[in-house]
Amino acid sequence: MSSTNTTSLHTDPSLFAGVDVYAVAGNPIAHSKSPAIHQRFAEQANQRMHYRRLQPEINSFAKAAQAFFAAGGKGMNVTVPFKLDAQTLADVLTPRAQLAGAVNALWKTEGKIFGDNTDGAGLVRDLLAKGIALHGARILLIGAGGAARGVMGPLLEQSPKSFIIANRSSAKADDLVKIFADLAASKEVALESRTLLDLEAATKTLHPFDLVINATAAGLTDESPVSLKAVGNIFVPSSFAYDMVYGKTTSFMQQALQRGARVSDGLGMLVEQAADAFLLWRGAQLATAIDPRAVLAELRS
Ligand code: ATR
Repeated sequence: MSSTNTTSLHTDPSLFAGVDVYAVAGNPIAHSKSPAIHQRFAEQANQRMHYRRLQPEINSFAKAAQAFFAAGGKGMNVTVPFKLDAQTLADVLTPRAQLAGAVNALWKTEGKIFGDNTDGAGLVRDLLAKGIALHGARILLIGAGGAARGVMGPLLEQSPKSFIIANRSSAKADDLVKIFADLAASKEVALESRTLLDLEAATKTLHPFDLVINATAAGLTDESPVSLKAVGNIFVPSSFAYDMVYGKTTSFMQQALQRGARVSDGLGMLVEQAADAFLLWRGAQLATAIDPRAVLAELRS
């Protein structure tokens, strides 16, 4: 099972001759569930692989990742705060990683480091598995940082009816509207930006929202980005509120529950993005061998 070791020593691939070595890099990383998730996928798909945590210093991601791959490492998941560094490091980016502006999965093939972003696909699969209809839905995405941008493409691909991106400061939300304008137009999605303050005015929301996603860093400190005045404009009993943070009922989720809405944390997204990374690394033919929903149920129990 997973180790809580966070040093690079046990992540040195040259120590594991004959076994493909993978890692998740983040800072902090001690509590990452990724090793346990990949261990279960490896068991389900009968793969011999070793997956560990790696905690580079904040300014040393590139050096740590290059050393990992130079020593024979096969692939790496990347989490906060290194997803932009990972994008810079990759020699080749998939189109969805380019659009996401961030990379959460790296691998090395024929001397080149490839970068992809599986976060958005993971979120979409988790939502669909939970029975949330995305086609024709009215979506509110709160936050306009890397986490929000990473999931916008795959959400827009599902052809929601409308998509509002709301952020504390307006500039970043406006930028995301520009970046995704073409995709939204091609899917006939009404894409607009708002500030968090705007959400306090019913006239500025497309009330009610079917799906409200919290992609702000506020969840980590357990503040909600939704003010008391905005709660009633955002959640109705038919809403589904999804917080990308996992492992707790956040203030954001509590606000939604109090309005009678259904809620979820982001554990399913974590498992599903890991599944996509696993298949990128080990081969798409293993899609029928792994069972992300069973792994999710195990993690919850
Ligand atoms: P990440 O990669 O996790 O998205 P980020 O790029 O630093 O991190 O973005 C953090 C996001 O959380 C931003 O949308 C930020 O809002 P601003 O752009 O206005 O800074 C949002 N955020 C962070 N703390 C917040 C808080 N307490 N309330 C509301 N939004 C918050």
